[in-house]
Amino acid sequence: MSGGVSDGALSEAAGLAGPGGSSRKAAADGSSRSSESAPSLALRAATEADLDAIWAIESAVFGAEAWSRDLMRDELNADLRCYLVLVDEAGAIVGYGGLLAVGTEGDIQTIALSPETRGAGQGRRLMNALLDAADERGVNEVFLEVRADNPVARTLYASLGFEEIGIRPRYYQPEGVDAVVNKLQMENRR
Ligand SMILES: CC(C)(COP(=O)(O)OP(=O)(O)OC[C@H]1O[C@@H](n2cnc3c(N)ncnc32)[C@H](O)[C@@H]1OP(=O)(O)O)[C@@H](O)C(=O)NCCC(=O)NCCS
Repeated sequence: MSGGVSDGALSEAAGLAGPGGSSRKAAADGSSRSSESAPSLALRAATEADLDAIWAIESAVFGAEAWSRDLMRDELNADLRCYLVLVDEAGAIVGYGGLLAVGTEGDIQTIALSPETRGAGQGRRLMNALLDAADERGVNEVFLEVRADNPVARTLYASLGFEEIGIRPRYYQPEGVDAVVNKLQMENRR
């Protein structure tokens, strides 16, 4: 795994602050898998100074379903959150993800990588860092929602030990795509 600091240390350093936030959506993934070696990416806690870069990815990846910039700012500053960013050697943010941890329950609020960063293990790395952060906060169960038409994300979550426990019909509007609700019992984490 590349990057200057261990993921565990980074998730320990990840910021928490203020209320707010809603659970999320997921885009279908049009990327292809890359056999090229991944560039060296650092993983660190996000700050409000990262908002522009995060929102640029958010709006490009999720389009009509993207969070507003204000909501994203609120999320970065909210209590009980852990937002992490992947940063390339030039200092550009190429991915981000967020966890909400309330008591023993966690929610993966969002995760997205720029298209050119996908398929090289960085999404799994980011998810594992968020799950490490959940573990450090005493979370026993982690939930997330994913679009039914997002096989890449669904496969990733299943490989981490998530189980698909329900469907929210036509959850993603305006397209009317179902959401698949996933749950991870932390003791089943892989
Ligand atoms: C979903 C996402 C975060 C995954 O990150 P990634 O870096 O592309 O995925 P990784 O390279 O870490 O691969 C993790 C697993 O995903 C699956 N996967 C990745 N790319 C895939 C592809 N093109 N086809 C099928 N499965 C794929 C595999 O199970 C893979 O595990 P493996 O390499 O051990 O076989 C990323 O693709 C992304 O940002 N997509 C757009 C936004 C999005 O859909 N977010 C999810 C919202 S719920």
